[in-house]
Amino acid sequence: MTSVATAISLITRDEAEHRTAEGAASTCSSDLAQGPWEFDAAEALRGMPAYGPGASSADVAPASTPRQGQLPQEYKDASEDELHARIRAAKETLGDRVVVLGHFYQRDEVVEHADFVGDSFQLANAALTRPDAEAIVFCGVHFMAETADILSRDDQAVILPNLAAGCSMADMADIDSVQQCWDQLEELFGTEPDADGRVPVIPVTYMNSSAALKGFCGEHGGIVCTSSNAATVLEWAFERGQRVLFFPDQHLGRNTAKAMGVPLEQMPMWSPRKPWGGTDPETLRDSRVILWHGFCSVHRRFNVAQIEKARADYPGVRVIVHPECPMEVVDAADEYGSTDYIRKAIAAATEPTVFAIGTEVNLVNRLAAEYPQHTIFCLDPVICPCSTMYRIHPGYLAWVLEGLVGGEVRNRIEVAADVADTARVALERMLAARP
Ligand code: 13P
Ligand code: SF4
Repeated sequence: MTSVATAISLITRDEAEHRTAEGAASTCSSDLAQGPWEFDAAEALRGMPAYGPGASSADVAPASTPRQGQLPQEYKDASEDELHARIRAAKETLGDRVVVLGHFYQRDEVVEHADFVGDSFQLANAALTRPDAEAIVFCGVHFMAETADILSRDDQAVILPNLAAGCSMADMADIDSVQQCWDQLEELFGTEPDADGRVPVIPVTYMNSSAALKGFCGEHGGIVCTSSNAATVLEWAFERGQRVLFFPDQHLGRNTAKAMGVPLEQMPMWSPRKPWGGTDPETLRDSRVILWHGFCSVHRRFNVAQIEKARADYPGVRVIVHPECPMEVVDAADEYGSTDYIRKAIAAATEPTVFAIGTEVNLVNRLAAEYPQHTIFCLDPVICPCSTMYRIHPGYLAWVLEGLVGGEVRNRIEVAADVADTARVALERMLAARP
C-alpha cells in the first residue's frame, strides 16, 4: 500500500501526463502534491489565510488564524530520505528530552517518527505520561497542541511543527459568537436551577475547539468531550442541566443525543449571527440539545450513496463511520465510533472481513496496510485528506527538532494562564466523567 502522499503525487503526475477522466476523479485537489510551504506562500501573497488543498480547503479561516513563517529552503529542498535521516538523528540526540505525538490522521511519513500514535483523547493522556520531557512535539492540529499545553507542566514546551495546522471545524465556533449565544439563552431561561437542581443550560464543547471555548465551559459549569466519550459526557451534563448547548460539531452532538433517545425536534440548530440563532424562543424552551452550526469538511464528504455502493459491491461488508459524519450516513452504517473505536473494531475481527470506513483517508490506508487479511477501504473513492492535518510535513518536523537540538524552541503553543486554568477545569471534568 502506497502512502497518501505517494498516491497523490502519482495521481497528479498521471493527470498532467494523460489527463484521464479517472485520474481527475481520484484526488480532490492536484495542489495536494505540492509542499505545504507553497501554499503558505500563496496565502501570504493573497494576504488572507485559508486552509489549503484537501477536504477543508473551501472553509474560511478566521483572520486570527496563526501564520506559519517561511520554512528555511534547505528543508523544502531536502529529499524524503534526507529528512527522515535528519529527524532520526535529532531524536536520537534529544533522547528522552523530547516526545513526539502523532494523530491517527497524520501522513505515514510523519507517523513513523511518533512515539505515541492515537486519537485526540489518547494523545491528551499521552502528553501526561511523559512529565520529564522538556518538549512535546504535537503532530496534529492546533487545538490538540493547546490541550497538551493546558495539561502539561508549565516548563514543558508544546510545539506544533506547522502553525497553519488548524481545524476548520474548531474555527466555526469562536468565543465571541458563543458568548452572544449564551447571553441570549440566559436572557430567555434565566440562571435559576429547577426543582431537581438542574441549571437551564450546560455548555459542552467538543475537544475540537479553541482553548478559549474550553475555558468558557470550565467557567460556566460545562465540560469537554471527545468522539470516544460523548455519550458519557452528555449523561453527565443531563444530570446537571435541563438542556445542553453543544459546539462546534452539530453531527457529533446530533448522532450522540439521538442514540440516547433525544428526539430530533428537541435538537434545534443555533446558527451564529442569526436572530435567536435562526430558531425561536419557543423551540429553544422545549429543547434538550442546542446544536451549533459547525461541521467537519472531511466527514461531510461521506454520503449514503457511497454506503449503498459498498454494499452492492461487497455483500456482507461492515460499514463503520466516524460520528462527525451526517446523521443519514451514521444511520445507514453498521457501526459508528471514534478513530480508536474504528481501529479496535478492525483489530478485533478474527475472520477475514471487508470493511468500508468513513473517516480520514490516511488512517484508513494505514489500517489497510496493517491488516492485509482484511479488505479495508475508504467509503469516499477520492483521495482527499484533512488539509490541515496534512500540513505537518516531515520538513517542518525536522525543522522544529533540529531547533531543539540547537537550543531553540520553534513554534511553541502557549495558552494564556487565565484561559488555561478554566479550560483545565472543563478537561478535568471530562477525565473524571470517564466510565
Ligand atoms: P478523534 O477524537 O476520533 O481522534 O477525532 C479527531 C478529529 O479531528 C476527527 O476529525
Ligand atoms: Fe478538523 Fe475535520 Fe480535520 Fe478533524 S478531520 S482536524 S475535525 S477538519
